[in-house]
Formats: sequence, C-alpha cells, structure tokens
Amino acid sequence: MGRNGARAALFGCLVVVASSLSPVTLSAAIAAGDARHGETIFLRYCQGCHGPDGRGGGKGFMPHVGPLARKGYIETMPDGYLAAVITEGGLAVGKSAYMPSWKTTLTEQDIADVIAFIRTFVAE
Ligand code: HEC
Repeated sequence: MGRNGARAALFGCLVVVASSLSPVTLSAAIAAGDARHGETIFLRYCQGCHGPDGRGGGKGFMPHVGPLARKGYIETMPDGYLAAVITEGGLAVGKSAYMPSWKTTLTEQDIADVIAFIRTFVAE
C-alpha cells in the first residue's frame, strides 16, 4: 500500500514536470526550425510580395513591402513576434493588412521553418 502511494506521488511529479516543460519544448521547436523546408514554403507563399531573397519588391505586388533581409533589423525581432505576424497577419502587430494571416495555410512547424529561413537572409 505504501508503495502504491509513493508510486502515485512519483507519477504526479512526472506529470507536473512534463507540463511545465511544454513551453520550453515549444520554443525549442521554433529554434530548431528547418530552414531548408522553410525555403520551400517561402518560395511558394511569400516571395511574391517579399521577393525571393526577402528584400521586398516582389514582382506581383505594388504597395511597398519593407525588406526582411535588412541587417540589424530582423535579427532583433524575437521569434514570437515573427510567428505572430506570420500567423495572424500584419494588422495584428500594427503593420500593413496586406500581409496575410497564414494560420489556415501553414502549420506551427511550417511557420517555425519559414522563420528559420528568414533568419538565414541576414546570417550571410
Ligand atoms: C500579399 C503580399 C504578402 C505575402 C504573400 C506575404 N507577405 Fe509578409 N508582409 C507583407 C506586407 C505588405 C508587410 C508589411 C511590411 C511593412 O510594413 O514594412 C509584411 C510583413 C511581414 C513581416 C514583418 C516584417 C516587419 O518588418 O515587421 C514578416 C516577418 C513577413 N511579412 C513574413 C511573411 C512570410 C513568412 C510570408 C509567407 C508565408 C509572407 N510574409 C507573405 C506582404 C505579404
């Protein structure tokens, strides 16, 4: 009986540890975005407005789109901000409403991957 009690307590601890870990796991997943897969997504969905190299001036789009590739700019933006713009669209962060919301098109992992790819623009 005493043993079962201890086991139950241990199990309880594990559940607490596991649930307190999940935000860490989430940001680790974002940090571990796959830039190669992100490139595929970017070229398919984003380059029309942002340009293939993130410098803006995509052919299909007239309102000015600021460069994502500007040094000293995008690397100061936290992943959480980039994820918010991409997920919810420009309006949600006080930017242009021409930046669409991607939450019905892309998964969280897709968005993490595309963020990893955007970050390669300035890493070079
Ligand atoms: C229909 C055109 C369009 C498409 C497609 C588009 N964007 Fe945008 N995006 C914009 C505009 C316009 C802005 C606002 C630019 C500004 O205010 O400087 C923006 C802003 C952003 C920003 C914020 C930049 C900043 O300076 O804060 C990010 C990040 C971004 N887009 C990523 C993406 C990604 C990733 C995709 C593809 C999944 C994408 N965009 C597709 C038009 C577009």
